[in-house]
Amino acid sequence: MASLDIVIMAAGKGTRMKSARPKVLHRLAGVSLLQHVLDAVAELAAAKTLVVTGHGAETVEAELGAPGLTFVRQEPQLGTGHAVQQVVPHLDQDGTTLILNGDVPLIRPATAAALAAACGGTKLALLTIELADASGYGRIVREGSAVKTIVEHKDANTAQRAIREVYTGMLAAPTAWLKRAVMALVNDNAQREYYLTDIVAMAVAEGLPVVATQPASDTEVLGVNSPVQLAELERRYQRACAAALMEDNGVRFADPARFDVRGTLKCGGDVDIDVGCVFEGAVTLADNVKIGAHCVIRNTRIDAGAVIQPFTHMDGAHIGPGAIVGPFARLRPGADLGQDVHIGNFVEVKNSTLAKGAKANHLAYLGDATVGERVNYGAGSISANYDGANKHRTVIGADVHVGSNCVLVAPVTIGEGATIGAGSTIAKDAPAGQLTLARPKQVSMAGWTRPKKTRPGA
Ligand code: UD1
Ligand code: MG
Repeated sequence: MASLDIVIMAAGKGTRMKSARPKVLHRLAGVSLLQHVLDAVAELAAAKTLVVTGHGAETVEAELGAPGLTFVRQEPQLGTGHAVQQVVPHLDQDGTTLILNGDVPLIRPATAAALAAACGGTKLALLTIELADASGYGRIVREGSAVKTIVEHKDANTAQRAIREVYTGMLAAPTAWLKRAVMALVNDNAQREYYLTDIVAMAVAEGLPVVATQPASDTEVLGVNSPVQLAELERRYQRACAAALMEDNGVRFADPARFDVRGTLKCGGDVDIDVGCVFEGAVTLADNVKIGAHCVIRNTRIDAGAVIQPFTHMDGAHIGPGAIVGPFARLRPGADLGQDVHIGNFVEVKNSTLAKGAKANHLAYLGDATVGERVNYGAGSISANYDGANKHRTVIGADVHVGSNCVLVAPVTIGEGATIGAGSTIAKDAPAGQLTLARPKQVSMAGWTRPKKTRPGA
């Protein structure tokens, strides 16, 4: 096939977003609108991908710059036809040019590919859809079945406004023809803009075939112009993700409407997910995993049968099979829990491995620690891993019992089977198999009396 160029229009202001941020940088499922479009066309293997920027151009270019992507400035913004005029010098000599919008994020790769294929370098192909409420859109005017022209809403007469088939803002055109056509556009219309849509009537006049293709659903062609529309599209996206997980993997959601994935979530069989959970980055849940309500889980792998209780926060963690975590636990990057490990409420784990059966059930911190099998790490105990300049490791052997409220001052090693008495500050290695205590001896003073308050003048 002759070469494919892709143009993404992203210069518009987005006034109705009422935001200082350029519209195409607003996020849907954690990814910018423009990045969604770039991801959708990535597999089309275009010769060139050109993004037209204008409002907030510096910010857009800085945030999305990537090899193989060319930004072309449009200043001022005189309409969609004027936007395409700016890229004319960058387009190839022949082949197909596919034009998409930076604020229409959920276009599917298959729909974009079908639109480009419908053009095939020889026809003008429009992506159109029938809408119950077509107001605001350019209407597809046909004679019989043949497309004759597109009339913008503001320029349409009453009969034309009754047409329900609209132009979605996406088209594919023979590149050489498109270059000539857009340079010939004029702006004698209601908005004094250069309308890209005027190339349709030009094609008809020249005898270039015009065809129309349709997306699978309107979700693919809905644009984002306001926070309300952004929130609606976000929900559609999330509902579709939940539906796919239910249909493909049998995931049971307490409520698929209260679920958010911002990245990729892979699930095994018999997974239960309670309400209000957020999954970010790459998350994998193996068979029989249960996620309690209101967990935030990011870049984490959870093995079979693990149970995550409500309000747990995880980032960059690995949870072994059968482990029980939470409620209110915090696992930070490098937290690696073995099989059947228990992490309870208000326990924070960072860059630490806990071997099979180890437990830290209440109010504790494990940072830069290696914890052996079956260790019991008491309430309120912490690894003092930071000396103010450097981090140091704490190594706790198998079957160690660390009492409550201990401070393990790293670097320090607790030998296998050792017991650390409650309230100890351990700054030297503790030998295996022994009780180590590091706290003042308890004293009681017989005959001691409490001081009494003295009265002035008494
Ligand atoms: C456009 C179409 C209309 C279609 C609708 C679909 C034209 C003339 N009209 O109308 O037929 O039904 O989209 O949503 O094309 N942009 C630029 N530079 C500009 C103007 C716009 O880059 O000078 C970009 C915008 O950022 C946006 C896209 O082009 O991504 C569409 O612009 P917009 O102003 O939304 O066009 P509509 O008036 O909605
Ligand atoms: Mg628009």
